[in-house]
Amino acid sequence: MFTEVKSALQKPTRKYTYREVDESEVVSALEDIFVIRPQTLRNICKHFVDELTLGLKEDGHTLKMIPSYVTRRPTGKETGSYLALDLGGTNFRVCEVYLEGDSKVRLTQKKFTIPDYAKCGQSDVLFDFLADSVLTFITENNIPTESDIPLGFTFSFPVDQTAIDKGYLMVWTKGFDCKDTINKDVVALLNEALARKNVKVHVTALVNDTVGTLMSHAYYDPGTFVGVILGTGTNAAYVEKVSAIPKWKGGPVESGEMIINCEWGAFDNERVVLPFNKYDQKMDEESTNPGQQTFEKMISGMYLGEIVRQVIVELIQRRILFGGISSPEIETPYKFETAYMSRIERDHTSDLLDTKMVLQELLNIPYPAPRDRRIVRRICELVATRAARLSAVGVAAVVTKMERVNDGCTVAIDGSVYEHYPHFGNRMKDALHELLGMFEENVNIVLGKDGSSVGAGVIAALA
Ligand code: BGC
Repeated sequence: MFTEVKSALQKPTRKYTYREVDESEVVSALEDIFVIRPQTLRNICKHFVDELTLGLKEDGHTLKMIPSYVTRRPTGKETGSYLALDLGGTNFRVCEVYLEGDSKVRLTQKKFTIPDYAKCGQSDVLFDFLADSVLTFITENNIPTESDIPLGFTFSFPVDQTAIDKGYLMVWTKGFDCKDTINKDVVALLNEALARKNVKVHVTALVNDTVGTLMSHAYYDPGTFVGVILGTGTNAAYVEKVSAIPKWKGGPVESGEMIINCEWGAFDNERVVLPFNKYDQKMDEESTNPGQQTFEKMISGMYLGEIVRQVIVELIQRRILFGGISSPEIETPYKFETAYMSRIERDHTSDLLDTKMVLQELLNIPYPAPRDRRIVRRICELVATRAARLSAVGVAAVVTKMERVNDGCTVAIDGSVYEHYPHFGNRMKDALHELLGMFEENVNIVLGKDGSSVGAGVIAALA
């Protein structure tokens, strides 16, 4: 491979033969594929609102619209100490959450990296890993196990929730794939694993990370009506009137409110409105869950880098990039991480020197010429901008469904993509403006950091 490149570089005639396709031509072809125009955004949003309504009517629709059994929002006065477990992304977190009242929270936490064998093996292996991590945490922090401390379990996958502390896994997402967990109550699985390790804690609440994010932010700001995750995966939860949930059969609810976990990652699995293109298609076919989580696959951190990689690989095959010379790294699925895109978009040097470093050092591309670096940067920009605009569609649809476009509300967003990807928030705001016009100002988007863990504590307190 290297000899080939070297000789290509030594012979300028050969080096330049692939430049038949003009840079602007390549870029404009990619723009045609990835740019979502305002009218398309509006059409997607309209369909989204219809799908939200349909999912509340009965089970079996694309948007699962799961009642969370959380029917009260916090006042900010709740107090106490709670354990929170947070499983759903790249790391597993164990936390002790102290609610101090007066909207103040203290958090002690430890992150554990989930090994791949635990993500895709037998259920017991995963749940034993969780229980071992809890044991490590309570030992290191001298938490007395006899106290039977209440625990909120944030489990961020679609579950059929039948009580505040009971839920059956419907399907795995985000690369997890332990087959024997499907249709099992994940709280029972956790309790059994904790009992095997003799850890005496008591799971009082099963929580989705979006519900946690909403609740933790509502502890500070009572105007919070929506919680969103834009991280490894994506999803949203919001406050719905029980009277607007025809499928709710759980009896009267004193507050008249129910937080709904939309599971919006599955939006448009039928592929009727989203501009799902050939690169998305290829990434989807090669994923662990083809045909599922269509919206999530165009938005979330697990997939953005992979879409960029698919584009780059095709351009290499067509000899449009890097003189047609590939590397084992760029040919490896998921090797182009979303974090690389962030780095490339943050590269403001005139020669895109950091982009060059990423391509050379992390992806083993021997000589990425300035023109090639610019194209790669534009691909990152296009894929990430599309993600931000689609995220805004989801937010606009939920706020429209809640009929809060006029009155306004706070939308708390957590997750690595929203928090760390450059310009993501501003790109979302631009799209929200295209969708809602001047009413965009009524939608107050804020970062809800550590929401899923703190929220589990807040919900355990209320439960
Ligand atoms: C899961 C959701 C979760 C979201 C964000 C999705 O893959 O299905 O339950 O809220 O990721 O973590």
